[in-house]
Amino acid sequence: EKGGYDTFMAKEIHEQPQAVADTLRGRIDEAGQIVLDEVRMSDQDFRDIDKVFIVACGTSYHAGLVTKYAIEHWTRIPCEVELASEFRYRDPVLDRSTLVVAISQSGETMDTLMAVRHAKDQKARVLSISNTVGSTIPRESDAVLYTRAGIEVAVASTKAFLTQLAACYLVGLHLAQVRGIKYADEVSAILDELVAAPGKIAKVIENLDPVREMARESAGSDRVLFIGRHVGYPVALEGALKLKELAYLHAEGFAAGELKHGPISLIEAGTPVIAIVPSPRGRSLLHDKIISNIQEVKARGAKVIAVCEEGDKITAAHADLVIETPASPTLLAPLLTAVPLQEFAAELATALGRDIDQPRNLAKSVTVE
Ligand code: M6R
Repeated sequence: EKGGYDTFMAKEIHEQPQAVADTLRGRIDEAGQIVLDEVRMSDQDFRDIDKVFIVACGTSYHAGLVTKYAIEHWTRIPCEVELASEFRYRDPVLDRSTLVVAISQSGETMDTLMAVRHAKDQKARVLSISNTVGSTIPRESDAVLYTRAGIEVAVASTKAFLTQLAACYLVGLHLAQVRGIKYADEVSAILDELVAAPGKIAKVIENLDPVREMARESAGSDRVLFIGRHVGYPVALEGALKLKELAYLHAEGFAAGELKHGPISLIEAGTPVIAIVPSPRGRSLLHDKIISNIQEVKARGAKVIAVCEEGDKITAAHADLVIETPASPTLLAPLLTAVPLQEFAAELATALGRDIDQPRNLAKSVTVE
């Protein structure tokens, strides 16, 4: 049932191109409009939205963090992302014109469900993104978009995460579409890029041997740090979560700009730092900034592994090792850059003899608060 792989996680990493393609299939109609599965909201309801809150836990929360960048850029609607377990206990400002997007692979996570119920009590609209048809969170939502990752067995989420990103991009584009055509050109270009993503993910997966080697080399370290900017920041958080979860190792993700405000003191000679580097094209300011961050940690003895766009010679000149991913628009890059980090965590954890599919203390579905 593991399809020839040693672990379910390995199988699920390899299923990602298909899972993302399945999640996109049929969701873009002939007119280039995005189709949600179940919508108990009219286009006018979507037009009336003046604020978006994304609520989720764990990996799904990281998908939400990426989505904030996309939604605000494409729609200009303010978007906040919050851990579901914090959201309902702090009296968030919600009303009829708030859209709450709940992301949950299982659709049963109690913290997220409680956040949904709280949002509904406050009359907010709820749109959920889930991998489980008919689960509680989608049933209680006003609109649903299902990911089509298939069953994810490994506790550590991989293919569900990538399909959540794909679905979240669709939601962002849907909001942009129903609210006007200001970004029509950009939206249609992004749709083309989304459709191309599964092929690019497959390329990343074909080229994971160097990542595995680096992971084995890093297995003796007592900590691994991940840094990123913009959408690379949530990817850094996700890389660190995978490593904590699987290897039981101290791993932290940071916004690279925050390093000098504290975390840089964690760096010692040989500390592995994984840097998520944005494309050197376009927003090159972002690229320059992370190169400076790489220099900062290198100067303190870090061993820098950079996940960057193929052909990025500047990064190659500064990092100790590079993992190249195909070119992609900045906002969609997490679909590619998250994948080597999954493999890194799995391989490092394997080197430490951990149980990859069933890490200690964890359950696939967290149905208690
Ligand atoms: O089913 P959900 O998406 O609501 O689950 C949320 C988290 O429990 C989940 O993503 C968890 O963080 C994963 N094990 C991470 O790999």
